[in-house]
Amino acid sequence: MNVNDAKFPIVVLISGYGSNLQAIMNEIDAGFCPAEIRAVLSNEPEASGLERAKRANIPTEVIQHRDFQNRKQFEKALMKSIDKYQPKLIVLAGFKRILGNEFIQHYPKRIINVHPSLLPKYPGLNSLEQVLAAGETEHGVSIHFVTNELDAGPLIVQIKVPVLKDDTVVTLGARIQQLEQKLYPQVITWFATGKIKCGN
Ligand code: GRF
Repeated sequence: MNVNDAKFPIVVLISGYGSNLQAIMNEIDAGFCPAEIRAVLSNEPEASGLERAKRANIPTEVIQHRDFQNRKQFEKALMKSIDKYQPKLIVLAGFKRILGNEFIQHYPKRIINVHPSLLPKYPGLNSLEQVLAAGETEHGVSIHFVTNELDAGPLIVQIKVPVLKDDTVVTLGARIQQLEQKLYPQVITWFATGKIKCGN
């Protein structure tokens, strides 16, 4: 597939570094993912993922949650921005805000998230630290559809990695991130080509 055929419109929401965003951009550029990133939105103005998008001439917007009185108003502004780009899929890539029901219902079965744990184990933040502290022998990555329960929507794919004896947050984290970056563009490709959909 050629990059010019990349037409399945997505919007990516980030809060930080954007390594998953970068992986998606790379796969699109290489012609392996038939998506088009219409925009990258961040709730954090300092998110370095924004620079990655700008370098690739992808429109960016910052909608700071702190500028709004409550989550509802923040999400209203977020939806207004997203809807300008008419995405068929909303990709959460390190987006560190919990999304409310109204937002989720606005994009039914069209929001996905990547989470660094074997869900339903270790939802929320700091899963690596928790896995190591608990002495788990395996860890992994989950990609799932987003519902109004945190990190609990229908699973699309889950891959395990062993936790090694000397693993630290850095070494285990690096392996988890590598896995995320391989899997997430693949899942977007599956969704874009109709190979998966959310049945729930
Ligand atoms: C990833 O580990 C992802 O699983 C989690 O947040 C992190 C984002 O990393 N939801 P990046 O911003 O894509 O580098």
